[in-house]
Amino acid sequence: MKKVLFFMGKGGVGKTTISSSTAFQLSRKGNKVLIVSLDPAHNLGDVFYCNLKNDKTSIAPGLDGIEIDLAKWVIKYLETSKDEIRDTYRYNVSINIDSYINILKYSPGTEEYAVLWAIEYIYTTWHSQYDYIIFDTPPTALTMRFLAMPSISMMWINELKSMREKILAKRQTILKLNPDATVIKGATDVKDDAVSGKLGSIRTRLKKLHTIFSEESYMSIVINNDELSLSESRRILQELDKLDVKINSICLNKLNPEITDLENLKKKFNSFPVFTSYQLPEGLIRREDLGRIQIDGLVNNIIETTRGNE
Ligand SMILES: Nc1ncnc2c1ncn2[C@@H]1O[C@H](COP(=O)(O)OP(=O)(O)OP(=O)(O)O)[C@@H](O)[C@H]1O
Ligand SMILES: [Mg+2]
Repeated sequence: MKKVLFFMGKGGVGKTTISSSTAFQLSRKGNKVLIVSLDPAHNLGDVFYCNLKNDKTSIAPGLDGIEIDLAKWVIKYLETSKDEIRDTYRYNVSINIDSYINILKYSPGTEEYAVLWAIEYIYTTWHSQYDYIIFDTPPTALTMRFLAMPSISMMWINELKSMREKILAKRQTILKLNPDATVIKGATDVKDDAVSGKLGSIRTRLKKLHTIFSEESYMSIVINNDELSLSESRRILQELDKLDVKINSICLNKLNPEITDLENLKKKFNSFPVFTSYQLPEGLIRREDLGRIQIDGLVNNIIETTRGNE
């Protein structure tokens, strides 16, 4: 199934512009569309000339928008982690949860997890009510990290699960030697063990997110015709390939209409459908200008690729 769309690329190449005009055009064709900005520095509302927030807001008939409040999602993630640690280690009264949470707040990965759980929430809450959910992504570094997070975390979780199993086996050995051993305060069997249960449920959630990224999403890279943008897009392609995330199309945006070697430029990406939109000389000033970005080919490709999906 492919009804989730991601637009990614270097800062300033036109991710928000292309994702917004795609959302606009898909909704004009009668689809119900939700556009979601994951960029901590939002400007989706500016593009549509309306105020967007952490909850969905109507932009136009058939088109709603959300600007994810990442700071709120980080707090939510930390609060949930705190509750989970408290519940799981209820027997361990000496644990200082607040000091763990303070460390977690500044740990690498916290922002990426917050984005992942926000995507999970958007997907599970709205997936059945929209024909398309479009994610406008933050600049490349954060995007690549949150896309990689499910695979990396699943490796960690597998390691932690096997360590946990060893701990439980040791507890069983101790109980065999001394059935009254007081050191055993938790479960001895995987199926009764809260920690194993928690690890299993996180793994299920991460696996679903990885499936959304690798199998259920239409991924497009937005590129400008300049060396930095081109080389960054090559890096994105390599990284995504390692993560088993397939790219569905390339959007060459802000092209100079006088470009002479367009065919040559397209050839650089000849294993993907490539779509082009030219630089509007006067820029985008009104919401209607989104309709002037040439993305018909892209929109048709999206509809074709996602046709027949539930
Ligand atoms: N085809 C185009 N013609 C003219 N101006 C464009 C075009 N595409 C994008 N722009 C302009 O380029 C600027 C950057 O575009 P946009 O905000 O969509 O990029 P972005 O990739 O989302 O940037 P960021 O990484 O900061 O989120 C904006 O001022 C936008 O109006
Ligand atoms: Mg943007």
